[in-house]
Amino acid sequence: MPKVMVLHGPNLNLLGKREPDIYGGGTLTELNERLRTKGGELGLEVETFQSNHEGDLIDQIHGAEGRVDVLVINPGAFTHYSYAIRDALASVSVPAIEVHISNVHGREPFRERSVTAPVTRGQIIGFGFHSYELALTAAVTLVRERA
Ligand code: DQA
Repeated sequence: MPKVMVLHGPNLNLLGKREPDIYGGGTLTELNERLRTKGGELGLEVETFQSNHEGDLIDQIHGAEGRVDVLVINPGAFTHYSYAIRDALASVSVPAIEVHISNVHGREPFRERSVTAPVTRGQIIGFGFHSYELALTAAVTLVRERA
């Protein structure tokens, strides 16, 4: 079964408590459960990982090479300035999809820039937790492309 690794960046462990007016009331555990269910429906095995640490996310990206078919990543605030995560994504042949819960284009100006997006296959932004489910649907297309 094709494997998708979903990476959640900093502060996303606080989903449900953190700014619920922006990110909703659901927790990370609930989100991950939803993703495993959706993955099952789509014929994908979904692994999830969250870290508040840049290096841990980079290690996961490196470890995806040859082991995972597609990466789905919400880099959190690292989106806007982490050249290290960008370089890690560019260093592996696994295609990545960037996801955001909120519509980053309707918020503070610093959120409008993504340094990671140019090395991903595309972004899905602004649909709450559903952004991730849409990314899994897109992942099916990427898996087919690679087959
Ligand atoms: C976010 C948007 C980022 O700007 C922010 O720093 C986050 C969450 C989102 O999913 O909407 O941590 O990536």
